[in-house]
Amino acid sequence: PAVSGVPHLLTDNDLSPKQLSDIIQSACLFKHQAKVLGQPSGAPLAGKTMALMFSKRSTRTRVATETAIAYLGGHAMFLGSQDIQLGVNESLLDTSKVVSSMVDGIMARVGAHSEIETLAKYSTVPIINALSDLYHPTQILADLMTLHELYTPSGSDPHTTAPTSTLKNLRLAWVGDGNNILHSLMLQLPKVGMHITMATPKGYEPNAEILKQAQKNAQVHGTDLEVYHDPKDALRNADIIVTDTWISMGQEEEKKQRIASFAGYQLTTDLIEQSGANADWKFLHCLPRKQEEVTDDVFYSPRSHVFQEAENRKWTILACINQLLVKKGF
Ligand code: CP
Ligand code: NVA
Repeated sequence: PAVSGVPHLLTDNDLSPKQLSDIIQSACLFKHQAKVLGQPSGAPLAGKTMALMFSKRSTRTRVATETAIAYLGGHAMFLGSQDIQLGVNESLLDTSKVVSSMVDGIMARVGAHSEIETLAKYSTVPIINALSDLYHPTQILADLMTLHELYTPSGSDPHTTAPTSTLKNLRLAWVGDGNNILHSLMLQLPKVGMHITMATPKGYEPNAEILKQAQKNAQVHGTDLEVYHDPKDALRNADIIVTDTWISMGQEEEKKQRIASFAGYQLTTDLIEQSGANADWKFLHCLPRKQEEVTDDVFYSPRSHVFQEAENRKWTILACINQLLVKKGF
C-alpha cells in the first residue's frame, strides 16, 4: 500500500517561499561554518544511511550529496543503474519498499518523472529528486544561493542577509531548450520575487502543464513570466542569463536534429550585449556544458559564476538533507 505523511522533495512546488528562503539561508550558514570557521557539523547523521539511486550519470549531484552526507556524519550508499534493479528486473514499488526499509533517506535520479513519483508513493523515508526528465529542484536551490551571494551588498554576509531582500525583482533570461532546468526555474523564481523571460525554438517550448503552474506562481507573487521564441526578446533588460545543454540525458539520438533546430540560440557576448541586457549581466549554467549553447567568451568570463554555482550544489543539498533527515521535514 501507498505510504502517506512522509515529506519528499520531488518538484519545486513542494517548497513554500519560506522553506525555499530558509534552505538558501541555511546553506549559506553551513558554507560559512565549514569553510570560514572550520567547524565540524556535530555529526547529526551518525549511524544513518542515505541511498543514492541514480539511473543516469552525474558528477555534481553525486559529489555534492556524498560529501554533504559525510560532513553530517552519515553514510552515502551509491546505487547506480548497473548495481541495483532500478526499474529493471524488479518493479519500482518493490525496490522502493525494500530500500526504504533499510535506509533513512533516498536521493533519486530517474528518467521519467513518474518513476520518482512511484518510488515516493511506496517509500517509508524522504526522497529528494536528484533530476528527472521534468524537474531538477536542487539545481535551482544552488542557482538561487549563488545569486544571493552575488547580490548581497558588500559589508554584509549572505548567511545573515535575507535572500528575499537580495533576489527580489531580479530578471533572469533563459535562452535554450524548454527542459527540466527551465521548468524548475519557472516554478521557483516567483517564490523569491524574481522575474523570468525565456526564448526556446519552436517545438522546444516548456511543458504546457508546468508552464501553467509557473504562470500561477508568478501571478500569486506578482512577478513577470514572459515566453518568446526570439532570444533577443528574452535577453532585453536581463540581469542574469542562463542556458543548458540542448541535448539532455536520454535525448542523445536526437542530437543532429536538435543542433539544427537550435541554430541562432548560442549565447555569445555579442548577442547578449546587442539584445540590451543590463550592463551588469551575469551568467549561470548548471553544467555539464557544451560549446554549442554558449561560447567560451561568455562561459569563462568574469561574468560567469558557473563554478561557484557548481560548488553551491553541495551546500544547498546539505541544507535539504539536514532539513528532511535531521529536522524531520520542511
Ligand atoms: N548540474 C548537475 O546536475 O550536474 P550532474 O549531472 O553532473 O550531477
Ligand atoms: N537538462 C540536463 C541537465 C543536466 C544536469 C539533463 O537533463 O541532462
